[in-house]
Amino acid sequence: MTFEDFPCLLPEAAAGDLPVRVVHALRPAQLPQLADLIGGAAAAFATDAGFGATHGQVLLLPGEKGVDAALLGLGDGPQDEACDPFVYGVLPAHLPAGAWRVQAPAGVTADDIVLGFCLGGYRMPAFGRTQPDTGAQARLVVTPQAIGAAQVAACMCQARDLINTPPNLMGPDDLARAARTTLEPLGAQVRVVTGEALQAAYPTVAHVGMGSDRPPCVVVAEWRGSAADATAPLLSLAGKGVCFDTGGYDIKPASSMLRMKKDMGGAALMLALARLIMLRDLPLRLELRLGCVENSVSGHAMRPSDVIVTRSGQTVEVGNTDAEGRLVLCDLLSEACDSAPDLLLDAATLTGAARVALGPDLPALFSNDDAVAVDLLAAGDMCADPMWRLPLWNGYRTWLRSPVADMNNISSRPMAGAVTAALFLQNFVKTGVRWAHIDTYGWNDSARPGRPEGGESLCLRATYGGILKIFNIEDIMGQ
Ligand code: BES
Ligand code: MN
Ligand code: ZN
Repeated sequence: MTFEDFPCLLPEAAAGDLPVRVVHALRPAQLPQLADLIGGAAAAFATDAGFGATHGQVLLLPGEKGVDAALLGLGDGPQDEACDPFVYGVLPAHLPAGAWRVQAPAGVTADDIVLGFCLGGYRMPAFGRTQPDTGAQARLVVTPQAIGAAQVAACMCQARDLINTPPNLMGPDDLARAARTTLEPLGAQVRVVTGEALQAAYPTVAHVGMGSDRPPCVVVAEWRGSAADATAPLLSLAGKGVCFDTGGYDIKPASSMLRMKKDMGGAALMLALARLIMLRDLPLRLELRLGCVENSVSGHAMRPSDVIVTRSGQTVEVGNTDAEGRLVLCDLLSEACDSAPDLLLDAATLTGAARVALGPDLPALFSNDDAVAVDLLAAGDMCADPMWRLPLWNGYRTWLRSPVADMNNISSRPMAGAVTAALFLQNFVKTGVRWAHIDTYGWNDSARPGRPEGGESLCLRATYGGILKIFNIEDIMGQ
């Protein structure tokens, strides 16, 4: 990963003698000093043009040879919440081509500016759309240290790309290939388990995948940081990679099915997190498992009322074929526990109920360990990448009872659906293993600064920061 992955970034060494124009990023409280900053004439122009430094407001300032400089409003957000990378995402679309730098108030980090600029410059891959020629673009002049923020942006944008890819082009083997081509060059050992081996090792994943002509697979990646020996902490990641979720025989209505290419968003997030950990060479041992599968309807598909013997030996009645995500994850969690990880983290677009509870922007966090939850939440709050904790409420465990199997994959009551899904998963986590589960939406419903409509890697920075805290790791990139 280099600066060349982001044409919108211009390393200062390559900028040479190019003229560099300035974006003045301002809060409304700074407006009285505007004349001192940009001169009386320009300040009068800004006032006349209605610049109020509201959040995301951009004003280009005219000069003798075109645009001289620009103003960016940061809005009135609480001053102690200086971290707001997304606001800088409005810049690529507004600034004229050329080299730029951003002058921001104290407290704003260069990393936030670089990250926001890269995220705002994100364009979905073309996928056959005739892409309009974007031509020359605005470029942010950056120091070598900016590579840290660019790495984060690259991981986030890769997750966006994977989620945005149409489902005919992103089947289980495409997702597995993406994982392999991403992680192998970083030194990971990657296996893709298919066929009879899949049936033997991950029978529940195989069962969910039966209905599709595109066979399921499980990606298993192992990696060790250059400073990690055999006793280094073991982090185990697992992701739901349902490449398309029709609901199966409990088929979804058209309006709900429309978005279900994003049902591999948990796998995309865990892949992005693994990649970032490897790019930063954290002193950890890492295992990653992705359950890549399509939930389809056919003569081979699983039926409601099927009973599956899972990898763990526990049996599950399929109360609803649309509750497939927990079936995909359960075998991955069981296997992950065999290595006794110091932390097991999974991510999934698991329930609509988590969205009812928290909306699209707050992934739900569940954990069997309070200290782990506190660290993850604090890390998210610090970098404007929040999550919200929901309880593993034992009282609802009985709602998963089945008369024919050890448990049902759906709850008997139409309440607390995100909680009962998490309780289902907990049945596959060995007692004593510290575990956190993230139920995420993986999508921006509408475009906002730095967050275009479409796939999103919510809580990548939160989980990365949380892992640094939990394992007490100092990151050389200072993220
Ligand atoms: N992938 C969906 C959950 C989902 C729906 C995530 C909408 C984001 C947006 C999952 O497989 C699912 O269908 N869950 C069911 C579970 C139910 C049958 C118990 C749901 O949430 O309705
Ligand atoms: Mn489903
Ligand atoms: Zn699903």
